[in-house]
Amino acid sequence: MIALNKIHLGDCLKNFPKIPNNSIDLVFLDPPYNLQLNKELTRPNHSIVKGVDQEWDKFDNFYSYDQFSKEYLSECKRVLKDDGSLWIIGSYHNIFRIGKILQDLNFWILNDVIWEKSNPLPNFRATRLTNAHETLIWCSKNPKAKYQFNYHTLKTSNEDKQERSVWNFPICSGKERLKNKENQTAHPTQKPLALMKKVILQSSVKGDLLLEPFAGTASFCAAAKYLGRNFIGFEQDKNYHKLANKRLKSIEPLKEELIEISDMDKPQKKIPFGTLINSGFLEPGSNLYNKNKSCKAKILPDGSLTFGSDRGSIHKIAAKINNTSTFNGWDYWHYEDSKKELISINEIRKKIRN
Ligand SMILES: C[S@@+](CC[C@H](N)C(=O)[O-])C[C@H]1O[C@@H](n2cnc3c(N)ncnc32)[C@H](O)[C@@H]1O
Repeated sequence: MIALNKIHLGDCLKNFPKIPNNSIDLVFLDPPYNLQLNKELTRPNHSIVKGVDQEWDKFDNFYSYDQFSKEYLSECKRVLKDDGSLWIIGSYHNIFRIGKILQDLNFWILNDVIWEKSNPLPNFRATRLTNAHETLIWCSKNPKAKYQFNYHTLKTSNEDKQERSVWNFPICSGKERLKNKENQTAHPTQKPLALMKKVILQSSVKGDLLLEPFAGTASFCAAAKYLGRNFIGFEQDKNYHKLANKRLKSIEPLKEELIEISDMDKPQKKIPFGTLINSGFLEPGSNLYNKNKSCKAKILPDGSLTFGSDRGSIHKIAAKINNTSTFNGWDYWHYEDSKKELISINEIRKKIRN
């Protein structure tokens, strides 16, 4: 495995093969946007606007941009764990093409998020609307993936209201904006740390392995380090690469105890029903009941239940009784304690987990 917690110099397409299949929890992509800026842009006072005119953002045509996008997105799919997820950011120049390619590669789009810029650059020529947002696409590897979503963590930080898909942040400026030796902006598309942190807090847990294939100044990796996640970054430009690793060295991770997400978002250890019998909480031959005790099933030594002539798992028997194809047996079955009180089997599971 490639070394963790640093930015590697080089083309990401050459570096991807160093990452094993199914090993990454979360990918964040801020790829070239293919902005196609041809003319110099000036402000009303005739000063020149520093746009993105670097070679790395230039492609011969849409076809070559799409081929490039397909290549790195296919690699992302290969290295992503089955239950991992991927975020990609773009503007109207590229995000629709990227969305199509994601779907062609059978990624499953979970949301698109609008990053609304509280301080966008004006439209200097006054020929179009002020472009005040970028779009992020969040997707999983397939529709059945159990991706990490820290719903409760986000809700708590949003005054107990469900988090929405429009996020308002200023563009990166002031002290956060890195400068080169000439005291000029070091990178034309440095993303705000606050936006990066929000993506990470939503879609990962402490200790996860995160990947940023187009690192630039490594804004995403910097947020990952701060939040106690592991990371791998790739950047092809020597100057950005140097700057990024220097930036990472200066990041002090948050104290362990402050990195917690809501308990309700923590991935739960799987406890098979048989564990409740093997650890002596339930006896084979005793009964389980539904909430109003109108149904009773017997526990067998192998962890299955019998109900009339049917035999099966806690889920299968609960589904049969409720006449549905699936049912969560953990929410259905109860046992009778020594005081003849009904207690949910979920309570025993919680005890074992803790
Ligand atoms: C949009 S910028 C990313 C900016 C970054 N998010 C930040 O906050 O600084 C894209 C970066 O990808 C790099 N890049 C372009 N093509 C690449 C490739 N094939 N492999 C690795 N890096 C590449 C560029 O040099 C540029 O720094």
